[in-house]
Amino acid sequence: MKKIIITLDGYSSCGKSTLAKQMAAHLNYVFIDSGAMYRAITLYFIRHRIDVTNSDAVIEALTHIHLVFKLNEQTGRADMYLNNENVEEEIRGLEVSNNVSQVAALEPVRIFSVAQQQLMGTQKGIVMDGRDIGTAVFPGAELKIFVTASPEVRVERRYQELVAKDPAITKAEIQANLEMRDHIDSTREFSPLKQAHDALVLDNSNLTRDEQLDLALSWAQERIANA
Ligand code: DC
Repeated sequence: MKKIIITLDGYSSCGKSTLAKQMAAHLNYVFIDSGAMYRAITLYFIRHRIDVTNSDAVIEALTHIHLVFKLNEQTGRADMYLNNENVEEEIRGLEVSNNVSQVAALEPVRIFSVAQQQLMGTQKGIVMDGRDIGTAVFPGAELKIFVTASPEVRVERRYQELVAKDPAITKAEIQANLEMRDHIDSTREFSPLKQAHDALVLDNSNLTRDEQLDLALSWAQERIANA
């Protein structure tokens, strides 16, 4: 059976990673969460106080960043390693979330990340989620899905995800963060978030996880059969 490339793009907290992960498991494909790479770069910039307005400093900092996904045997998930340190937990916190869109908008950061993402797809058999995967990273992908959900559903999902770790967090804070990231991600100059012209739209506001998985897998099976 031929392997294909599947891309999932969309706004923050639409459930892209959950769906991408489940699709990869069903198809026996590799799942790549491209956002984890931008988050790890952001963590490095925060720790080393890199001035994001200074492009020489940004370019220099990137030469010290080595990113690897490594399988976590306990969770069955790939964890993000920044220079050999597992940063999976830390990159999901609000400090990184509040700064990641600014970092992801920088041209040198995008060139650095996209080149690595494209290498991961050379063998196909990959499901990658992000913002520009169907438009910039794999414009020739066999299946492109653009995932959407209503703003209320997105805030609620993100709240449920974060409140266990941070009981003081509020929905208003999360909403402000999502709105800020949506704005920066879709208006930035270099590969902004936009729907690829040949993407299939999946609005999961009123779908259960199983329903959205069934729908996405039916699209994948059809594209695999025609590959
Ligand atoms: O998917 P996420 O929320 O973990 O992504 C974190 C940030 O990284 C998001 O605000 C936008 C950016 N991003 C990007 O610009 N391009 C991608 N392919 C993936 C993420």
